Amino acid sequence: MGSEYLLGEVAKEVRTCEKCDLCRSRKKAVPGEGSGRSGVMLVGEAPGGKEDESGRPFVGVAGKRLEELLRLAGLSRDEVFITNIVKCRPPGNRRPRRDEAESCHEYLRREIEALNPSLVVLLGVTALKRFFPSSEISTARGIVVESGGRRYLPTYHPASMIYNRSLESAVSGDFRELKKLLGR
Ligand code: URA
Ligand code: SF4
Repeated sequence: MGSEYLLGEVAKEVRTCEKCDLCRSRKKAVPGEGSGRSGVMLVGEAPGGKEDESGRPFVGVAGKRLEELLRLAGLSRDEVFITNIVKCRPPGNRRPRRDEAESCHEYLRREIEALNPSLVVLLGVTALKRFFPSSEISTARGIVVESGGRRYLPTYHPASMIYNRSLESAVSGDFRELKKLLGR
């Protein structure tokens, strides 16, 4: 089965999913998107307001920052696959709860399996903790870790640099490192 078909099936199920309470307050569920042809997948936290309106990941302010960061890695948005830990916006943009992330994990697992990325970039603490619960973002970031035959690169969430400018050079550095990792 081709990855495009499988990803389409996941997206279809996500759009009508009612597996957790986030379905009650969402406008649109937000499945992952992108060709992923560079072999790079990025995992954020949860849709925000713009994403909830449009049904697409990282289209708001955080999306702008992410696109700038991708450029540092020599990547464009259409070459990667972008998704989130939970596919529906938490009310007031609060952090998704563990039970919500667990309810939604099956979709993320299938996105990863379908795309079979060579590298999964974990954007921020929510994504990091889902895969590596005992890791801390401040020490884990910028270092590639292998787990279950897959490579992960944790870094700060692109939105965090909007609120905390001191993180900007760290995140930018991590994306420049990504460029080297990809041999670009
Ligand atoms: N922040 C995220 O983590 N994901 C989005 O899709 C948008 C903002
Ligand atoms: Fe379903 Fe995930 Fe949305 Fe919850 S967050 S309703 S599990 S798609």
